[in-house]
Amino acid sequence: MILFRDPNEIKEFLVSKRRQNLSIGFVPTMGALHQGHLSLIAEAKGNCDLVVASIFVNPTQFNNSKDLETYPRSIESDILKLISAGCDVLFHPEASNMYFEGEKKLSSDDYGYFIEVLEGLKRPGHFDGVVTILTKFFKIIQPNQVYFGQKDYQQCLVAETLIKRDFPEIVLKRCRIIREKDGLAMSSRNARLNAEERRFAAKIYQILCEIKSQWTEENFLNCVLESRNLLNTSPFSLEYLEVCHVETLMPVKSYFKPVVILVAVNLGKTRLIDNLIIE
Ligand code: PAJ
Repeated sequence: MILFRDPNEIKEFLVSKRRQNLSIGFVPTMGALHQGHLSLIAEAKGNCDLVVASIFVNPTQFNNSKDLETYPRSIESDILKLISAGCDVLFHPEASNMYFEGEKKLSSDDYGYFIEVLEGLKRPGHFDGVVTILTKFFKIIQPNQVYFGQKDYQQCLVAETLIKRDFPEIVLKRCRIIREKDGLAMSSRNARLNAEERRFAAKIYQILCEIKSQWTEENFLNCVLESRNLLNTSPFSLEYLEVCHVETLMPVKSYFKPVVILVAVNLGKTRLIDNLIIE
């Protein structure tokens, strides 16, 4: 695996690969890699000649400075994991090479309704930061395909909108959520949970599955209300649990399919998100 820190150097390297007609699959990450990230690398390897991953804890998408400070970082073991997964190129830039003094974030204001709700509402400026860094990455890497996990469902919609508008030549691949044995969606933030919180965390997916199994005209409303209560009882503190249209994220108030249930919950000091589609 070749490691690049300088945006110009990786850009030049990839231009030469593209001239050889090699297709480039890109997997953007913030590191602290787990099987969820590595599943994206595996998908990219199956479809593209060259797999490029990035590891960059993007400061502009954090609306909470404490979260940015304490975001897990483990570059040495990440590099070993990427090598084992067969990743060809790693881009691991310094923040000073990606942003210049006083630079403003791009705006995602006109991306549609789905930008205003859920994560967009709870984490003001978060998607502006995501759009800003993805735009920079896409210009540097110029991938044929880019891989995103459905774990960050709303982020997939944002990235799809960005690509449709500004990078129509890129194909976005949505990849399924990888879970721990007990159902907890893998996340870099899970490392912050203590043993007791970790046991409780498995309830999030159990509750999503319970809603799915109760998704009938008679039961769905009660089940959603009950689930909100359960996830708002100590040690949980609920930010939202919403049942939404799969593309617009408009709230679904009457019985309908397909829908996506999206949840954000705090467990101790850790904020966890998850979702489940009801086809
Ligand atoms: P990060 O949280 O590191 O996630 C990188 C990619 O891995 C995202 O597409 C995310 O959805 C995917 N992912 C995370 N957990 C997963 C799981 N359990 N199963 C499947 N995929 C999973 O998302 C970001 O970084 C950043 O916002 C980024 C896109 C890199 C921009 O800074």
